[in-house]
Amino acid sequence: MATTTPSKPSKAADTARDNRAKLLERAMSRHSYSGDALIEVLHTAQELYGFLTPDLLKSIARKLRLPPSRVLGVATFYHFFSLEPKGEHSYIVCLGTACYVKGALGLLETLERRCAKAGRTSPDGKVSVNSARCIGACGLAPAVIRDGEIVGRLTPRQVTEDLDRIGVK
Ligand code: FES
Repeated sequence: MATTTPSKPSKAADTARDNRAKLLERAMSRHSYSGDALIEVLHTAQELYGFLTPDLLKSIARKLRLPPSRVLGVATFYHFFSLEPKGEHSYIVCLGTACYVKGALGLLETLERRCAKAGRTSPDGKVSVNSARCIGACGLAPAVIRDGEIVGRLTPRQVTEDLDRIGVK
């Protein structure tokens, strides 16, 4: 019969949590707790925790002596910051002019219908959907960053097929 050791994973998890907090503290200290380092600090926090929780944002605001509203404003303004766990797959639809003209809205609507609104992750945790302004690939319009790679000249039908392939219901 298999035995379990419940205390071990929890100790390991506690240690990992402590290390993350220490690493974040070190990042803020390296910048002398300056509010000017907010974006770098948010990057570090997201790398360490995967996404930015309200508690994390409050703690960063306190330590950098910034208004919590400013920290939240920056975290929500940039598409690369996430306030909830990221999905297994990520789609960032470019809504810059060239992509918009070539039908980017149709791609976003397809993703929103099947997965989640822009800025959110599907309830099954499979797909995160985001939008951005010009990702520098206008010649490939309409362009999407899918799992970190730029994919160009997409159609809503291709997006649908892609979602079918990865098992989105
Ligand atoms: S407008 Fe979409 S890549 Fe430039």
